[in-house]
Amino acid sequence: MYIALLGRQPEISIAELERRFTSVRWFSSETAIIDTDRIVNVQQLGGTQKTGRVIMTLPLRDWRTTSMKIVQHYQKAWSDFEGKVTLGISTYGFTTNARDVQKTGLTLKSKLKASGVSVRLIPNQDVSLSSATSHHNKLGLSENKIELLVVKGRDSIILAESTGSQNITALAARDQGRPRRDAFVGMLPPKLALLMVNLAGLSTHDKAQSRPRILDPFCGTGVLLQESLLAGYDAYGTDLAEKMISYSEDNLKWLKSNNQLKGSWTLHEGDAMTTTWNGPIDAVVAETYLGQPFSAPPSPAKLKEVRGNCNHIISTFLKNLHGQLKPGTPVILAVPAWRHIDGTFTHLPLTEAIDALGYRQITLSHVRNEQLLYYRPDQVVARQLLILEA
Ligand SMILES: C[S@@+](CC[C@H](N)C(=O)[O-])C[C@H]1O[C@@H](n2cnc3c(N)ncnc32)[C@H](O)[C@@H]1O
Repeated sequence: MYIALLGRQPEISIAELERRFTSVRWFSSETAIIDTDRIVNVQQLGGTQKTGRVIMTLPLRDWRTTSMKIVQHYQKAWSDFEGKVTLGISTYGFTTNARDVQKTGLTLKSKLKASGVSVRLIPNQDVSLSSATSHHNKLGLSENKIELLVVKGRDSIILAESTGSQNITALAARDQGRPRRDAFVGMLPPKLALLMVNLAGLSTHDKAQSRPRILDPFCGTGVLLQESLLAGYDAYGTDLAEKMISYSEDNLKWLKSNNQLKGSWTLHEGDAMTTTWNGPIDAVVAETYLGQPFSAPPSPAKLKEVRGNCNHIISTFLKNLHGQLKPGTPVILAVPAWRHIDGTFTHLPLTEAIDALGYRQITLSHVRNEQLLYYRPDQVVARQLLILEA
């Protein structure tokens, strides 16, 4: 059993887990439990910050009482530990402060010292270590580099040992290191692209048989193709703009020069509203045309125009695509939704008429489809994630 510490928008993160693992449930508002015998690799997830193997479940108590139990447990468990332990402690959901969390670490350190075990304690700036600090210190990646994750849920407390944290440096390099970028077509963050690839729910079992192929008909500079290739799939990208095809080509060549890729890619120009794609297509994953970017909410007339234009392009594309897919093929799209000052959203009309376009919207157990919105606090154009099946 694993615990996953979810990202900034936990609803999207749990959707990703639900599509990748059979048994997933909420534990607290920012964490989820994954019941699996498989090893969960946090680097293969876009929306999870840390994962940990569950060691024990404790009754709901405050931090002081819980921390005493933890000290007791590890004082015994590690009494004959060989070599030096690097230790970090992160708490989630407790009413406590960095000093008290640090104090737990210091108490454990001195008790272990008495048994001849030496501990290097990672200082707590906060009640939990940032993913960057955990990753930088390689916590969870070897037997003697340990991060305890102590999570207060609705009904109990979980003590887990980290199995790794998201590698923010690698994600940033995958984003900023690419030779071709284009501010106007927008920058899909690699972790969102990876999350979308996982939303397709292609099983790893399929990967062993023959490599599934993912189509992105709005490929732009190729972030989705990049993440599909890194996840072990074949990638197929098309775009209306010749420039974008050449940008994607350059970016994927750069990716191949820096990584061992099993899959291969195909690229060509094409209008998503009329193109005929070459099979096989096992999933479609795309950030569609999002309309123009806005730094402030547009006037009602402007919004009507942009929304109408996007709706036309995306629904014509979906109709064109439908006849070209095998029934049951997953179609994962990021489409625009516009955020107003009061926090409400204007959605594309097509999101209310998915059935009429021939697709089925997949409903998830742990999150409502309307909650699958990705945006930063200052963004007007949000990305609404649609999980469909042809
Ligand atoms: C939001 S961008 C996608 C960005 C891409 N995910 C990336 O990371 O670079 C949308 C892309 O759709 C393309 N596009 C717009 N209308 C199109 C159409 N009718 N058919 C195909 N591509 C289109 C644009 O050229 C642009 O590259």
